[in-house]
Amino acid sequence: MKRYYIAGNWKMHKTVAESVALAKALVRDLADCKDRVMIAPAFTALAAVAEAVRGSNIVLGAQNMGPDIQGAHTGEVSPLMLRDLGVSSVILGHSERRHSYFETDELINRKVLLALDHGLELILCVGETLAEREAGRLEDVVGFQVREGLKGVSAAKMASVTIAYEPVWAIGTGKTATPEDADMVHAYIRSVVSSLFDKAIAEALVIQYGGSVKPDNAVELMAKVNIDGALVGGASLKAETFVPIAQFR
Ligand code: 13P
Repeated sequence: MKRYYIAGNWKMHKTVAESVALAKALVRDLADCKDRVMIAPAFTALAAVAEAVRGSNIVLGAQNMGPDIQGAHTGEVSPLMLRDLGVSSVILGHSERRHSYFETDELINRKVLLALDHGLELILCVGETLAEREAGRLEDVVGFQVREGLKGVSAAKMASVTIAYEPVWAIGTGKTATPEDADMVHAYIRSVVSSLFDKAIAEALVIQYGGSVKPDNAVELMAKVNIDGALVGGASLKAETFVPIAQFR
């Protein structure tokens, strides 16, 4: 049976105490969850949340990391520091990083390779803006982000890679891609990965959908053959909305 992967990206929300309280509620409420669950608190709460999820089935993730191991890189966090806290997964290339902080595909690719080299799993986010979609450039944009993001990744390391398709116009807007539209883009991403590696790797790849996922649309999204999970923003900030998404079946 397919195992889904549901991740919560808490973005720049919550104090340490609030983060721990939510993590504890999820540990309790999702103890029987059949699917894989990851939460990505802010950096400042990672150490405390690591304690709260220790020994549970919840995977600890980070929302970003720097492209270097150590040294004079003011304000950055390295994969070694994340590993040190018990983080096992990192979100890379989120559209907010691309658009608000001007992260390029080249920079994202450096982070992808570094994360994999240091034993972290990752979620590579890709997605088009509304203007790009309306200009008929969806496949160009998403295909480029996938190819550039995965440049130099070995076939063996693909087991540690998840891709999240997050159409920029659907993030935090309440507009969701229709399940059919999302499924089509996921199928396209799978075809790009198949051309880069092979069919078996493309079929095994977990592709999450992200963008206004809520308890009331999770079931129909997850029903699509190419949708293997969700990367949830706003609705991951409360147990009342995240638990039903993670327990959608
Ligand atoms: P929302 O679920 O708030 O639309 O955010 C999606 C997202 O960006 C997750 O990374």
